[in-house]
Amino acid sequence: MFITFEGIDGSGKTTQIKLLQDYIESCGNHTVIIREPGGTAFSELIRDILLNKDVEINPVSELLLFEAARANLTEQVIIPALKNGFYVLCDRFYDSTTAYQGYGRELNLEEVLNCHKIATFGIKPDLTFYLKLSLEESLERSAHKNPDRMERAGREFFLRVLEGFDAIAASEPERFVIIDATGDIEATHRKIVSFIDMKSHNK
Ligand code: TYD
Repeated sequence: MFITFEGIDGSGKTTQIKLLQDYIESCGNHTVIIREPGGTAFSELIRDILLNKDVEINPVSELLLFEAARANLTEQVIIPALKNGFYVLCDRFYDSTTAYQGYGRELNLEEVLNCHKIATFGIKPDLTFYLKLSLEESLERSAHKNPDRMERAGREFFLRVLEGFDAIAASEPERFVIIDATGDIEATHRKIVSFIDMKSHNK
């Protein structure tokens, strides 16, 4: 099963992925956790470029770099892991590109979706948890951080990203589970586990 987590900075994706991994492994299954951009030597190098605050990148180059990193990760890690029956848990996947580059950078949505097709070799998540947080809460939670290149984009950009996540989640209700990210960690984890159990039983 291929499970992705989406949401803006500070939504707790990383914590929830780790908790879910522990749960899935405690049920006797194998898991792989990956984050995007990254997860292979090539994709981690691209990540360094994308997040480097001293590098100027235009929106099209940014889109193509995220997709290049994704193509490598998909081919080298995700597809083989799924073939071997692993649960693949991914911190962000192509929905982030739709939200950040499509909505945030205002690139043509149809072209962005076509890029996903190329970069993913047709692979789609079975389930996507969208950990929803307002921009104010996100800024509050990440105030201490030294912002990377993406985090330096302005408020208007992040409002468009949020609008994007809402639109994507609404357009694929059977894949998306929207979870209020302001709740406590344990309660959020229990909600996520209940969806995983439901999905596994329906398979
Ligand atoms: P990261 O440190 O992984 O952020 P987070 O902990 O919030 O997941 O940095 C990834 C950044 O790249 C984040 O700001 C979101 C952005 N991003 C895109 O703009 N497009 C994409 O396709 C992906 C995967 C990430």
